Amino acid sequence: MSDMTYRPLGRCGTKVSAFSLGGWTTFGGSITDEAFTREILHAAYEAGVNFFDIADVYAIGAAETIMGKALADLPRRNLVISSKCYWPMSEDVNDRGLSRKHIFESVEASLKRIGTDYLDILFCHRYDEETPLEETVRAMDDLVRQGKVLYWGTSEWTGAQLRSAHAIADDRHAYGPQVEQPQYNLLVRGKVEDDVQPAAEDLGMGLVVWSPLASGLLTGKYDDAVPDDSRLARIDWLREQLFEGEGRDKVRAMTEIAEGAGCTRTQLALAWAAAQPGISSVILGATSLPQLEENLGAAAVEITDEVRSALNALFPSVAGT
Ligand SMILES: NC(=O)c1ccc[n+]([C@@H]2O[C@H](COP(=O)([O-])OP(=O)(O)OC[C@H]3O[C@@H](n4cnc5c(N)ncnc54)[C@H](OP(=O)(O)O)[C@@H]3O)[C@@H](O)[C@H]2O)c1
Repeated sequence: MSDMTYRPLGRCGTKVSAFSLGGWTTFGGSITDEAFTREILHAAYEAGVNFFDIADVYAIGAAETIMGKALADLPRRNLVISSKCYWPMSEDVNDRGLSRKHIFESVEASLKRIGTDYLDILFCHRYDEETPLEETVRAMDDLVRQGKVLYWGTSEWTGAQLRSAHAIADDRHAYGPQVEQPQYNLLVRGKVEDDVQPAAEDLGMGLVVWSPLASGLLTGKYDDAVPDDSRLARIDWLREQLFEGEGRDKVRAMTEIAEGAGCTRTQLALAWAAAQPGISSVILGATSLPQLEENLGAAAVEITDEVRSALNALFPSVAGT
């Protein structure tokens, strides 16, 4: 029997699985085999995952295409499918950002590539300093009213930006953002805990969090070296950022806490994220079935007060990170 639980996206009726699956750098990117993609997505679904997170920009549309194909033979009503817009999709001056023009054109292209009539969630993939917030809120509200998008969300917005979006939406009886998608893991906690989570809670928004394993660092796979067939071997800027930092010493020290909790470091990091206040879903990334299986095992791990204290001591929340 699956240990999966389901949680609302803040104050709304739709529920997402506490662990979901995303496609950044993987599907359509490092994994281009359709049958293999299908195998991983279907295994996740069989284990109770109902939320699949995509973005237009992941492999420049290829993630939407390959994940859409893999999801096509599952019942659409049982799935919560998201995509995102903001990052440039071409050199064109308007093929980016959160203007009304780009949002409308982007969602049409995403629906076609995924092969669905509607997105459950459309995320603004960053805050757009060049577009008036009111224009974005109105465009999103129109998409919701058209039924092309059921909820809209944000990614990496500050608490103040979320509050402004809700103030504009309230003034105009428009739909405000329902869910924020920040990075959140044992090594990157400060901004979420000090700013984003309190704002989201006030506004009735859910949080679905990305890179819960810090791109794999928290698994311990990078303790000694960068394995050949790994994300940090493939992506130079991530290797420079993560492999050289002080994170690896802490990850090594985490082994004892995981042993005490009777699980792997990977499962401990994921279960910790899922147990933090305000989290609707922890978005997993996986490049193999054994990885997926290990990660989903986090659903059965309980974070006791003792374990939480030990993790807080090793990975303190640092303001601004
Ligand atoms: N909104 C945003 O700006 C944003 C940004 C990033 C991600 N996201 C979303 O969040 C999702 C998850 O992020 P993420 O992929 O960075 O998550 P992550 O859990 O931090 O990293 C996942 C990667 O770590 C490695 N890994 C995972 N489980 C493992 C295991 N059990 N043992 C060993 N290695 C393991 C795999 O890479 P290798 O096997 O290749 O090493 C896997 O692709 C993305 O797919 C995307 O949907 C959103």
